[in-house]
Amino acid sequence: MSGIRVTKEDRITRIEFARLDKKNALTGEMYIMLAEALTAANADPQVRAVLLHGSADCFTAGNDVSDFLQPRPQGGNPPVWKLFEALPSLEKPIVAAVGGPAVGIGTTMLLHCDLVYATPSARFQLPFVPLGIVPEFGSTYLLPLMAGYQRAAELLLLGQPFTAQEAHEVGIVTALVPQERLLDEAENVALALAALPPESVRLTKRLMKGWHTQLAKAAIAEEGRLVVERLRSPEAKEAMSAFLEKRKPDFSRF
Ligand code: COA
Repeated sequence: MSGIRVTKEDRITRIEFARLDKKNALTGEMYIMLAEALTAANADPQVRAVLLHGSADCFTAGNDVSDFLQPRPQGGNPPVWKLFEALPSLEKPIVAAVGGPAVGIGTTMLLHCDLVYATPSARFQLPFVPLGIVPEFGSTYLLPLMAGYQRAAELLLLGQPFTAQEAHEVGIVTALVPQERLLDEAENVALALAALPPESVRLTKRLMKGWHTQLAKAAIAEEGRLVVERLRSPEAKEAMSAFLEKRKPDFSRF
């Protein structure tokens, strides 16, 4: 069971997180499938837009925390790097529909989407510092750019959950949509994008993103290097073990 479902219909590639028993937490295999689906959508002339969603009450709980605790193979990048490359390189528009939790990379991937719809009860969190690592996927560059430094610092340094309304205010979310209409609304937007002149859509996205692409990619590389380093730290091991053991972490000895 891969945990990712990919379908293609009406010129839209639809990518669904489907590992609900673990709150759609992302494994290495899921990152690879996600990246391959994005790369295929980019190359397929029949595809005009991408729709990304989980269930109506769970987007994704982010990276699988037990994967974080596995020993890192030396050399070569981990599977998440495939997503780090594929999503910012996607030239076609991508619409995300977020219901329920969007944690860690579940939130940072939204910074690379074009239109993001969320239910009022969706919850966002960037818990990289509380987990003893550092933020990833270009978020230390993109979030201050979108939200201003002070708001970004609050979300990235404290790492506490925030509401869909707050995510809307800082510019992560385009609009709030009632839960029962979430998927239909996001799909309608993807269909509207798919009906527009594809080259104008592609060029406009490139023009909007283009000025920041190189800096975002540099941030992704530097953050990624530091995450790998931090995953070996006793602070991170304590934080991740505490989550899986369902206890409060204790950082007093560090
Ligand atoms: N990695 C691995 N397993 C995860 C997970 C993750 N990121 N998020 C949730 N799970 C698992 C839980 O361990 C639990 O497994 P179990 O049933 O075998 O005990 C199951 O999914 C349900 O999670 P639970 O915490 O009971 O659900 P909830 O509705 O109370 O809370 C969340 C949902 C998403 C708010 C909460 O699970 C959470 O905070 N997850 C961790 C997010 C995180 O730190 N991600 C890493 C970011 S870098």
